[in-house]
Amino acid sequence: MTYREEFWRSLGAPEDFWRDQAAAVSWIRKPRQILDATAEPLARWFPDATLNTCYNALDRHVIHGRADHPALIFHSAITGERRTYSYARLLDEVARVGGALRELGVAAGDRVVIYLPMVAEAAIAMLACARIGAVHSVVFGGFAPAELSARIDDARPKVVLSASCGLEADKVIAYKPMLDAALAMSAHQPDYCVILQRPQLTAELVEGRDLEWAMITKPGLFEPASCAELAATDPLYILYTSGTTGRPKGIVRDHGGHAVALTYSLRTVYGVGSDDVMFTASDVGWVVGHSYIVYGPLLVGATTVVYEGKPVGTPDAAAWWRVVAEHGVTVLFSAPTAVRAIRKVDPDGLLLAEHDLSSLRTLFLAGERLDPDTYAWASARLDVPVIDHWWQTETGWPIAANLRGLEPMPVKPGSATVPVPGFDVRILDNQGNRVAAGTEGAIVIALPLPPGTLTTVWGDDQRCVDSYLSAYPGSYLTGDGGYVDADGYLFVLGRTDDVINVAGHRLSTGSMEAVIATHPAVAECAVIGVADPLKGQVPRGLVVLKDGVAIEAGELSAALVALVRAEIGPVAGLRRVDVVRALPKTRSGKILRKAMRELADGRNPGLPATIEDPAVLEALRPLLTGGA
Ligand code: COA
Ligand code: AMP
Repeated sequence: MTYREEFWRSLGAPEDFWRDQAAAVSWIRKPRQILDATAEPLARWFPDATLNTCYNALDRHVIHGRADHPALIFHSAITGERRTYSYARLLDEVARVGGALRELGVAAGDRVVIYLPMVAEAAIAMLACARIGAVHSVVFGGFAPAELSARIDDARPKVVLSASCGLEADKVIAYKPMLDAALAMSAHQPDYCVILQRPQLTAELVEGRDLEWAMITKPGLFEPASCAELAATDPLYILYTSGTTGRPKGIVRDHGGHAVALTYSLRTVYGVGSDDVMFTASDVGWVVGHSYIVYGPLLVGATTVVYEGKPVGTPDAAAWWRVVAEHGVTVLFSAPTAVRAIRKVDPDGLLLAEHDLSSLRTLFLAGERLDPDTYAWASARLDVPVIDHWWQTETGWPIAANLRGLEPMPVKPGSATVPVPGFDVRILDNQGNRVAAGTEGAIVIALPLPPGTLTTVWGDDQRCVDSYLSAYPGSYLTGDGGYVDADGYLFVLGRTDDVINVAGHRLSTGSMEAVIATHPAVAECAVIGVADPLKGQVPRGLVVLKDGVAIEAGELSAALVALVRAEIGPVAGLRRVDVVRALPKTRSGKILRKAMRELADGRNPGLPATIEDPAVLEALRPLLTGGA
């Protein structure tokens, strides 16, 4: 089938289309009903079917003669450690961790928070939860205790799985004290915390609450867990993501739709099958890690690489190329910011040329717009197709891509290519009307969303409706703006809300403003995302002081940077806060963040008719354009 045929079939006869795709998954009870379009707040896929995601990711490959095939390769660029898990070994470890969780009282539907660095145990923990039907919620290590605490209070886990430390290029990051600090702030307390003690740092354990990973997963101690029979619509995981307010949203993913959609995406978008080695250089704390480090490659029986390290500095800009050459990686996936980091250190690709990259077939990039410069550099140096594709935590898999496994298309730099089958992408104007080719507007997806996308916001259906479904009735609001050209290629231009992407990490400027506003000297503040050559975007703060407050600007900036780091985490990346006389506003008092962002990006802002005083914005021009 060609792309066009497959795409139109997926929209014209979605139930037939997804029934066919569901055949690639092993069900316990096969789906008879494919779609329940009446479900609230979003349609449910395969509502009468049952399955186990872990069975699909592990057991069935072992049963079908691939027990010895490598499932997961752990590669630490920091310690030098390499560990290969065959499908049989991974299954054994996962079943033991699942058994231990059951022994600790975790039942199907209970939540487990996973706060682990990039070690094999992070993937093992996720799969163990899936095996027993526990709902995992992985929290990224770069968040501060307050963010971890907010997620613990929202998810209310029975057990937290964590580690003594994570390893960065030049530092050991003590995870356990951050967990302790988070729990000290949390109203909810888990029954147990299971701690992976790493050789680089031993964590102190709290008696009665904390257990050692190695102790409770000892072979023979507890009965290994069998696979629970779960409804396709049961939640597999909650993944918190930044929204427009300070409070993170718990995106919920189901079992059945997820297994079907990821399997489809591996084959169709990535062209990955059971003989491939997929290296997704991201983190299990992000959706990319969930879908394409852990579940996706294993669902199709491929080999996945769990990589501890950075693209540069661990120890050099050849770290990725070593992984590719050593493990015969066929498909590499990361964020453009990581490629820019490598290019900065090794602009001529000299380190790259020292390694045998002949196994590599494709480089996929996502997480932010792939700028044409980075595209050109990576294409020329690697001499393989470099594929931009667009998606979000909420969708769980690509909305727009160049479908390498179906019908590869010519690349247009700056475009994520075409909508993936299943996604009815539309561009709308402010009134909700579709716009002509080449015209910018809000990118929405007409309902129903395909399988594998969010089913709700954890514990808050209304928030799901308010955030995604009410702006344009009948459509899901992506929060991104862009246009489709005359050839049907989609160009994603950036967020239309307060979400920013810093080094491929999605953050909320609203949450940074909420932290800055707590400082006693601050009367008002705004945080905007401004363009950055390395990180794509970085946050920048502007504050107005309370009357009568005398504080040196540099001192206040340092205090606010430290405050945001302490409350949100180092990953926030806020480095600069300026004191200004006033913030530009509309007559009703709404701060004009978009206009400031446009100024900072060197564009002439379109001023709303309701602006209170254009001179206030104009006064910020030298500061925002770098002149002050
Ligand atoms: N645990 C604890 N701290 C972490 C962390 C983790 N998992 N990840 C990042 N941090 C810390 C870093 O140590 C750094 O701290 P510092 O301010 O004390 O130096 C801070 O958070 C900012 O990290 P980051 O923005 O990642 O900057 P960096 O200089 O460490 O690395 C890149 C820059 C581009 C190499 C890196 O961000 C990267 O590889 N990004 C790709 C992102 C990605 O995979 N996104 C998912 C979509 S594909
Ligand atoms: P996350 O939920 O962390 O995956 O971030 C999703 C957001 O990242 C999207 O809403 C976009 O703003 C941005 N994004 C992801 N991939 C791309 C891409 N290929 N092009 C442009 N923006 C992207």
